[in-house]
This record gives sequence, structure tokens and C-alpha cells, in this order.
Amino acid sequence: MKYQAKYSQLVMPDDANNVGTLFGGQMISWMDLAASKVAYRFLKGTGVSGALTRAIDQVEFKEPVYPGEWVNFEGHVSTAGTSSFQIIIDAYAEGAENKKRLACTAIITMVAVKKEDDGSYSKCPHGRTL
Ligand SMILES: CC(C)(COP(=O)(O)OP(=O)(O)OC[C@H]1O[C@@H](n2cnc3c(N)ncnc32)[C@H](O)[C@@H]1OP(=O)(O)O)[C@@H](O)C(=O)NCCC(=O)NCCS
Repeated sequence: MKYQAKYSQLVMPDDANNVGTLFGGQMISWMDLAASKVAYRFLKGTGVSGALTRAIDQVEFKEPVYPGEWVNFEGHVSTAGTSSFQIIIDAYAEGAENKKRLACTAIITMVAVKKEDDGSYSKCPHGRTL
């Protein structure tokens, strides 16, 4: 089964850096949110409490994105371990004047967690395979 999700954000003026393009830290935050949506679908029905981001690897900013444009994120689970699973996120910029372009890519590793009696969260097997 393919676990995937889409997510979109409009780039507002406050999201820009000093050269007027989308701030990279904001982009990564949105990539992480997009991965959370994929994780939500991947873990639905497993009984685990949720997932935490363990690693964000191979982030590549390929094209600048401008205020007023949309960023459309497409994510899917690429590999599944015992408690971890890897999500590939591609972020496409969409502007009124420009055609759709691949702006940013990353590989995000999330870990399934369960809530302990003391309120903390620890890793747990998710039981999913691809
Ligand atoms: C997520 C967390 C509960 C995992 O617990 P842990 O005891 O550190 O777990 P481990 O080091 O054994 O790693 C758990 C899994 O992640 C994998 N993993 C660990 N480090 C990794 C890395 N750098 N890249 C990819 N996978 C990694 C392990 O191989 C293991 O996978 P598996 O169970 O599928 O075999 C804990 O590390 C944590 O709380 N980290 C902080 C999370 C956080 O605050 N995120 C930001 C906000 S969402």
C-alpha cells in the first residue's frame, strides 16, 4: 500500500528572507508538517500515540520561491523499519506567472511513539509494512 499525502501553503510577505524569497527555515517547518500528515495516514489504525521527527536529511533548496506563490508538498513513505519510517517530501512552487517547479526536497525520518505513564513518549513498533 502507498501511504501518501499532499499539503499546501501560501507564501505570505512575513515568510520572506532578506533577499525577498521564502526563508529556508520556514520551508523546512512546512516540509515537517507535510511529513506529519503522511505519518498520520501511515499510523492510522495502528494504536500508537503518534510520531516524532527523528531526522531531516538531504534537504536541498533547488529553486527560490516568492511571496504570493503557493507551495504544494507531495509526500510518501519510502521505507518502513520497526519503529521508524522514512518519508520523501517534494515541494513544488506554483506562481501565477511561473510554471510549477520543484523547489525543495528532503528525506524525513519519523519514529512511532507511545505515551508512558509518566507522560513521556518512547519509541514503539508501528507494525506497518509497505
Ligand atoms: C524519537 C525518539 C523517541 C526515539 O527514541 P530513541 O530511543 O532515541 O530511538 P533510537 O535511537 O533507537 O531510534 C529509533 C529508530 O529511529 C532510527 N534512527 C535513529 N536515528 C536515526 C537517524 N539519524 N536517521 C534515520 N533513522 C534513525 C533507528 O534506526 C530506529 O529505527 P527502527 O526502530 O525502525 O529500527 C527520541 O529520539 C526522541 O524523543 N527524539 C526527539 C524527537 C523530537 O523532539 N523531535 C522534534 C519534534 S517532532
